[in-house]
Parts: sequence; C-alpha cells; structure tokens
Amino acid sequence: MNVTVGRCTRHYRTVAFDSRKNSVLLIEQRLLPHQFEVVAARDFCETAQAIKDMIVRGAGAIGATAAYGLAQGARAFRGRDLVKFSRHLETVYRTLKAARPTAVDPANAMAAVRAALNKGETVEERQALALAAAEEFANDNVNHCQAIGRHGAPLIREGMNILTHCNAGWLAFVDVGTATAPLYAAQAQGRKFHVFCDETRPRAQGATLTAWELAQQKISHQIIADNAAGHLMQRGEIDLVIVGSDRTLGRTGEVTNKIGTYTKAVLADRHRIPFYVAVPISTIDWKLSSGRDIPIEERHGSEVLGAWGVNQRGRREYVRVANPSSDARNPGFDVTPPDLITGIITTEGIFKPTGLWSNRRKLGYKD
Ligand code: MRU
Repeated sequence: MNVTVGRCTRHYRTVAFDSRKNSVLLIEQRLLPHQFEVVAARDFCETAQAIKDMIVRGAGAIGATAAYGLAQGARAFRGRDLVKFSRHLETVYRTLKAARPTAVDPANAMAAVRAALNKGETVEERQALALAAAEEFANDNVNHCQAIGRHGAPLIREGMNILTHCNAGWLAFVDVGTATAPLYAAQAQGRKFHVFCDETRPRAQGATLTAWELAQQKISHQIIADNAAGHLMQRGEIDLVIVGSDRTLGRTGEVTNKIGTYTKAVLADRHRIPFYVAVPISTIDWKLSSGRDIPIEERHGSEVLGAWGVNQRGRREYVRVANPSSDARNPGFDVTPPDLITGIITTEGIFKPTGLWSNRRKLGYKD
C-alpha cells in the first residue's frame, strides 16, 4: 500500500527481499505509528529474531518472512554437498518455525519453499529455487488478499459501521491485508463507511497499526477500548464485524485469532450482527481436527502489566501500569467456534465455516 511520510508517498510491501545483500527487508512495526522505518535482517537468525520480537507480525507477514528466511538460509550455505545442505536447511527451518507458534502461515510457507527447492539437483539450483518459491509465496499472498477484497466488498454497504479486531491489514500480510481488503475494495468502489478499531490490548495492534493504516488510506475510523464493543452493539452502532485469522481449521471451521476475538463473536451473536473472518489459503490448517490442539502462544506478562508508547521527546518507552507486586497471564490468541461465524471470506468466495472442508480442493488442499 502507499505510505505517506511527510510529503513523500511511496508504495511499500511489509516484507521484501534484497537478493544482492541476502537480507529480508521489514517494516519495523514496533515503531508505528510514531516512526516509519524499514530494517534489514541480514541472516536467518536475525530473521527468526525479528519474527519473535514482533518487528514483523501478522500471520501472512510472518509467513512471507519465514519463506524468505528459509531462502536466505539456503543461499548462505557454502559448498556442494547436498546432504550437508539438507542438514543446514533443517536447522534454518526449525529456527524460523520456533519463532512463533500459533499462526500456521510460516509452516505452510516454508513447506512450499521446501517442496520447490527439492526439485533442484544441485545446491546452487536449490538455492535459486528457494528464493523463487519465497517470491512466489509473497506474490500469491498479495493476489489472495486482493481476491478476498473482491469477494468481501459487497458486504460493505454505504454508511455502515464496521468493527475490526487487532490488525489484519496490509501490515499483517505482504500487502492489502485480509480483514481490511473488503474495506479497501469498497472504498475504491466509492462507498463511505466508518470503522471501529478495537484497541486490542495488550499490544494494541488495533490502536497503533490498524488505525495508522486506515488513516493512511483516508478511511473514517475511531479507536475504541476493547471493552466498548458490547455497548456499541447494544445501541445499534455496529452493523458488521470483520476479523482476520492466524490459523483456521479446514476440517472444523474453528478460527484462531488475536485474543479477544472470541468475546467479540459471542457479543455479535447475542446482538445478531454478522461476524465474518477473512482468510487466505496459507492460513488454513488442513491437518488438525480440534481447536484444542492449536498451540496458543503465551506471551510475557509485562505486556499486560504495562504499555509501550512514545514520550514527549519522541522516544519509545515502556510504562508500568499495574500494581508492582502483581503478575499476569497473557495468552495471545483464542479460538472462535464455527457456530458463531456467519461466513469465512476466502480467495474463492464466502463459505460457511463448516463449508471449508467440502470446498477443500478449490482452497488448495492436497492429500
Ligand atoms: O500477535 P500478532 O500481532 O502477530 O497477531 C496476529 C494478528 O495479526 C491478528 O491475530 C490478526 O487478526 C490475524 S490476521 C493476520
């Protein structure tokens, strides 16, 4: 998407690759919305660390980062021995996969890169195939988000108030985003609407990232405290909810997304407000058959006990908010059951959550 900083407007992707320097280029999301900066991860360990530290975050974006990271690791190998190369690649894969557990996109992205590179007969061929496959994953990610936009745009009617949670925008993908794709498509078709961004504590991706994206895109929006959505729903001030997902089970239609999503789905159901989830192919997990088996990331309690912001001198700073002697529990994601979901907006159209399985071939399932 286009980013305007000062007077300069330029198109950026959230994740890109510098093949000359064998570096993964990332928008430093922890600095947003206060500062816009692109940083380089110069080897696969730095790339894994950037995922872990949430310099880059969001399911599709960490998927593309992991794909590039695997190619980056492959390209750093010196020698011609295929056995040693495979061993090295396994270390790279494990390091990247361990960075964050809940989103399935990194595993799916790296599986695609591995399948592609295994067709090469020499180390050199495999290195080239790895980068080509990572580029293809990133490009597909953009195309998939655009398709989600096309299918989801008719849901956005003139004058609607839409609630979204966390950031499933272009910063969470390579470009365009998922939950935001129908919004951007509807805007391009000339419709006006208003978006409520859940603040999304503890890391505030809604207040920082989604709000920044919508401001960049000149879409009318307001940030609300996470606890305000029920009140607005009760007063008839929310017409539609659209969220993203970090892992959606193709067999059951259960949706894992940022903590607090389940609460919003329960509220939407209570108030008979349509609740949609936007999901690209790389976010579908065809293997697991129960939401209980999804690994839910437990993050550091400090995120709950305080907050990051910018001080008056423009410096990023953490302030402790909670009682100093108290500890916190910080699960990063929750699982929304299919009966609370009106529809899943995919690259192939909108399906009932339980319809993913019957449409699996269209949605890229392979035996
Ligand atoms: O912890 P994050 O910021 O990586 O959270 C992931 C998400 O971006 C959200 O859960 C989002 O709604 C899913 S769509 C990428």
